[in-house]
Amino acid sequence: MRLSVIGTGYVGLVTGTCLAEVGHNVICVDNDEAKIELLKRGGMPIYEPGLEELVKKNTAAGRLSFSTSIAEGVRNSDVIFIAVPTPPLPDGSVDMSFIEKVTREISAAMDSYKIVVDKSTVPVKTGEKVAETIRRFRKAQVEFDVASNPEFLREGSAVEDFMHPDRIVIGVQSQRPVPALKEIYAPFNAPILVTDINSAELIKHASNSFLALKISYINAISVICEATGANVVEVANGMGMDKRIGRAFLDASLGFGGSCFPKDLSAFIKIAEQVGYDFALLKEVQRINAMQMDRFIKKITDTLWVVKGKTIGVLGLAFKKNTDDVRVSPAIELCHRLQGQGAILRVHDPKAMEKARAVLKDVTFVDDMNAVPDGCDALVIATEWDEFKQLDLERARRTMVQPIIFDGRNLFDPAEMARLGFIYKSIGR
Ligand code: UDX
Repeated sequence: MRLSVIGTGYVGLVTGTCLAEVGHNVICVDNDEAKIELLKRGGMPIYEPGLEELVKKNTAAGRLSFSTSIAEGVRNSDVIFIAVPTPPLPDGSVDMSFIEKVTREISAAMDSYKIVVDKSTVPVKTGEKVAETIRRFRKAQVEFDVASNPEFLREGSAVEDFMHPDRIVIGVQSQRPVPALKEIYAPFNAPILVTDINSAELIKHASNSFLALKISYINAISVICEATGANVVEVANGMGMDKRIGRAFLDASLGFGGSCFPKDLSAFIKIAEQVGYDFALLKEVQRINAMQMDRFIKKITDTLWVVKGKTIGVLGLAFKKNTDDVRVSPAIELCHRLQGQGAILRVHDPKAMEKARAVLKDVTFVDDMNAVPDGCDALVIATEWDEFKQLDLERARRTMVQPIIFDGRNLFDPAEMARLGFIYKSIGR
């Protein structure tokens, strides 16, 4: 099928590329000329495992192309996916201006029947607004359908998640676009759930909020574990063996971050408020998450007594492993807070150094992770990159002023760390 995807961020670029990979003809559109030029030259604006290879392969095969023109995308496709940002406003609600703007541009360019599919995470009832906007702004009296098709991609495994989805959710206002949408997703061999459009939009916010709730739940349990001498990993393992609960998203940490969970929680709380419901449960999820960072910082300050003037190594800057994304990264917040107390920082991330330079000032960026602990009074692990498990601990113990490690991701075994001579403090163990 002929498709276009408006917006080439993490979601749009992965969506367009993976849809090309299964045989569709896809035009990816973005108003960022520099980004489109880069993509046309074979460069990549983001790091996402497996994406670069697929972009190259499908561009070479002629199934994937890039453009800065929405009109070009719309005229040459039957189905148009909207994947533009929906950032938070200061009050926690969602800024819908990008969606509204591209909807107007799509409407103006429509010259025949089109299906307009929203992939961005949006408040319930957005589809109705999109349809209303198209009706108002279309130049030709062409017919159209609007659908909601939320994405459930995790950064760092977005390609894998797109190619092997647990489910595909399609929300519609009528049955007319369903066969075409099912055809687009047929190659993925995944269960397809067709719902009304409002339910599809809600499924996204409800799912992400539930996952954030799981993390806050295990983080709350980690507090009890620390107070009682229990081990949060054992507790999570035991809970996770119950099929009704599942082990995923039960890794205690210094808190969740990223461009989705914090934003989606705030938005969902706001949406609930607007329909007259106080979603206090989700407010508590936010509170526990903030408290988890406070507790971790307190662990560091309690141990070091005075942070001012101490050199602290930080391993990990991305908000999670396998990505270069530092937006709303707990690791970056941690760096800022330690700097606020006068710490001198030596930092490293396998992929996020470049992006971190824009938000982290007056730190030493260290290329070799094994050199980070050199001369440090303490080392902090802030992101769960697998390679950190291979850290040269023998060297760290020799070169650190004091062998103190704060592990915000529970990467090492506490007994083994004690045996190696470290003062080792992790989460809930
Ligand atoms: C999330 C959703 O998982 C995805 O379905 C949605 O479409 C977009 O938002 P993403 O933000 O990319 O994806 O990352 P995710 O893997 O969900 O992690 C979010 C945050 O939670 C990260 O900071 C991560 O480190 C943290 N986390 C995750 C934990 O602290 N513990 C866990 O057990 C899992």
